[in-house]
Amino acid sequence: AIERTLSIIKPDAVAKNVIGQIYTRFENAGLKVIAARMAQLSRAEAEGFYAVHRERPFFKDLVDFMVSGPVMIQVLEGEGAILKNRDLMGATDPKKAEKGTIRADFADSIDANAVHGSDADETAKVEIAYFFPALNVYSR
Ligand code: CMP
Repeated sequence: AIERTLSIIKPDAVAKNVIGQIYTRFENAGLKVIAARMAQLSRAEAEGFYAVHRERPFFKDLVDFMVSGPVMIQVLEGEGAILKNRDLMGATDPKKAEKGTIRADFADSIDANAVHGSDADETAKVEIAYFFPALNVYSR
């Protein structure tokens, strides 16, 4: 089915100047960018986005990292977009990510891991709505 997923290029990858290289991977895999914006997240925005992780031991480090510089946020659309994007990203921990994945090629650590992608249909809907009002999504 045609799906939508929320993708974030994190501060480490933005700082490395690889937004274009990551977009090319999306495009070559048949994923279309249908909404995008660059943002410097506030602590409140980052904490709200990652609210499901609030009780996890890595929460503070995660939020500190996500506000450490600008991020590039996009909605990707395509056949099986959620799983396709997760396959492109590779494992959360870049040391465990398969060769040729975004995280294997561009990420340095489990915190500075280059990209975020929604993990399921329900989270994709919530995450897309968090950053993009419907009128800023351009499917056609
Ligand atoms: P992301 O897909 O953005 O979702 C939550 C983030 O928390 C994850 O990527 C990692 O960057 C970060 N993180 C740090 N430590 C862990 C951990 N032990 N397990 C999962 N995520 C972690």
